[in-house]
Amino acid sequence: MSKVIDSLPSLARRSDAAYLDFVEGFREFILGKGADFEDRLNQALVDEAARRGQDWQDVEHIREFVQQQPLGCLRDRLARTQQEMKWHALVRSFDEQRAKLVGELEHWASRGPGDLLLDPEFVPPSYVNVHFHLQPGGYFKDELSGFLYHWGTKVFFRGDNDADQLHARLTRFVPTPADGRVLRILDMACSVGQSTTAFRRRFPEAEVWGVDYSAPMLKVAHRRAAMLGDEVTFKQALIEHTGFADEYFDLTFAFIVFHELPLRVIEETVREAARVTRKGGVFAVYDFARTADKSPFQRYHRWFDARHNGEPYSQDFCDCDFDGLLRCYGFRVDATPLGQRAGGSGYMQNWFAIRE
Ligand SMILES: C[S@@+](CC[C@H](N)C(=O)[O-])C[C@H]1O[C@@H](n2cnc3c(N)ncnc32)[C@H](O)[C@@H]1O
Repeated sequence: MSKVIDSLPSLARRSDAAYLDFVEGFREFILGKGADFEDRLNQALVDEAARRGQDWQDVEHIREFVQQQPLGCLRDRLARTQQEMKWHALVRSFDEQRAKLVGELEHWASRGPGDLLLDPEFVPPSYVNVHFHLQPGGYFKDELSGFLYHWGTKVFFRGDNDADQLHARLTRFVPTPADGRVLRILDMACSVGQSTTAFRRRFPEAEVWGVDYSAPMLKVAHRRAAMLGDEVTFKQALIEHTGFADEYFDLTFAFIVFHELPLRVIEETVREAARVTRKGGVFAVYDFARTADKSPFQRYHRWFDARHNGEPYSQDFCDCDFDGLLRCYGFRVDATPLGQRAGGSGYMQNWFAIRE
């Protein structure tokens, strides 16, 4: 087993691990070529549009059609059920070893390399009060939220991130500023710090910061980085108000957080990124693709995610003019569908923006 995987705590019983292994396979079947729901439903949507002689405009019409199909109902039920199975098993397994795991976090909190800067006065804003992708307690209400999230995403990525290879790949694709200077890096909404440490490995001389508002996430991030020997600093703050000096960073990064923010906070975060990124510096964002670039089924999936998978803000993000927002705050934008660049799916997109 690799060192990276060792930073994930073991589950309480071997049967828990076996169960989650099954859930991972179940996800693969539903989302991959096993059941082939996506291609089959998308084809049904394309055929129906041809029959009607009109492309799909309104997502409400797409929804109505998909939910009339037995295949659509089955897919929705299974998509929801596999999430519930995953969280139920993880919560039960971590509850059984709660005292030990809390002790582990305390043990690592004061050890290096790297620092953990928590703010005892921090009060979470109301918009974060969501059980994102159905995680019980959301990102911060359980002291073990970070461990739950890390294990949950391990299952979510279906083996593609077991050794942090996804984070390594995404951070590797981020371009360096034209003058080549990368001395300070900010990882916005770093959760358990997988991209934070990946940046430190890519730029071993750089000062690397991970910012997140969730203390349970940051404790896991710090423990993980310290176990791996990666010297990075984790700070508890909102990404829309990071507290860093103007133009402090050469490179600012945000992976899959914008779709979890209300529109007002999306704008505030872009403004903050523009403030803390120096002229000529890079702001790299990976997130859900624009609605306009999506297939009819993917548009439906976004609707489903918002209503039934704890992603209440994601539709607004996908509908908004994110390129325009970046330009408005002084970035030159190179927006490329991720699939063309990193072999990702059509759900994702990257924006590599240069601060002008
Ligand atoms: C989907 S995860 C982001 C994924 C993360 N970049 C990774 O690589 O795993 C969302 C994270 O963003 C954090 N977050 C959400 N809104 C935030 C905000 N306004 N300020 C700081 N952190 C935020 C959450 O606590 C959570 O850890």
